[in-house]
Amino acid sequence: MPSRLVVLVSGDGTNLQALIDAAGDAAYGAEVVAVGADREGIEGLARAERAGIATFVRKVGDYGTRADWDAALTEAVAEHRPDVVVLAGFMKLVGASFLERFEGRVVNTHPALCPSFPGTSGPADALAYGVKVTGATLFVVDAGVDTGAIIAQTTVPVEDADDVESLHARIKTAERAMLVESVGRMAREGISVENRRVRFGAR
Ligand code: GRF
Repeated sequence: MPSRLVVLVSGDGTNLQALIDAAGDAAYGAEVVAVGADREGIEGLARAERAGIATFVRKVGDYGTRADWDAALTEAVAEHRPDVVVLAGFMKLVGASFLERFEGRVVNTHPALCPSFPGTSGPADALAYGVKVTGATLFVVDAGVDTGAIIAQTTVPVEDADDVESLHARIKTAERAMLVESVGRMAREGISVENRRVRFGAR
């Protein structure tokens, strides 16, 4: 049986699309069974709908507290019985109930080389700092901001002529390839985590 992926998005969903495309090949070992979002009207949801994948939206503003939202998001994801939850450009921090329910099975992709430049402006922060190399990081989500155990990283050069947009576009190209390769390996081989060190092949 292929691994069941639930993917959470907040925007364009190009990382999601890369996973959907990869999962079209049965040998990939994973399928996207549902796509969730924290907002409506985004291309990420449209991509899922075009692919015939179930979608759901849970907006923070519709709940009295952040914890209530987190509980509702947890339930919505759990309904689809995920083996792995992929945060792919999901611009909210998931909370305690979510992490408890899916412990060790939630991964996030961040457009910088962790532990550098955590948060929502990784490409801009890397550019402003003047680094010559940056990239993207796939990690197992923990309670911190982009602090989880690192599954994979990929690097890209920063070019003299870069602005935030051109740099983020270059990162995203590398990021999609890393995400597809690593999530596929997680599905087929499993991972083990020991003292922050992640290895494929636990299965
Ligand atoms: C990615 O670079 C992700 O790491 C960041 O936002 C971007 C989302 O891109 N948090 P997309 O929605 O998958 O196209």
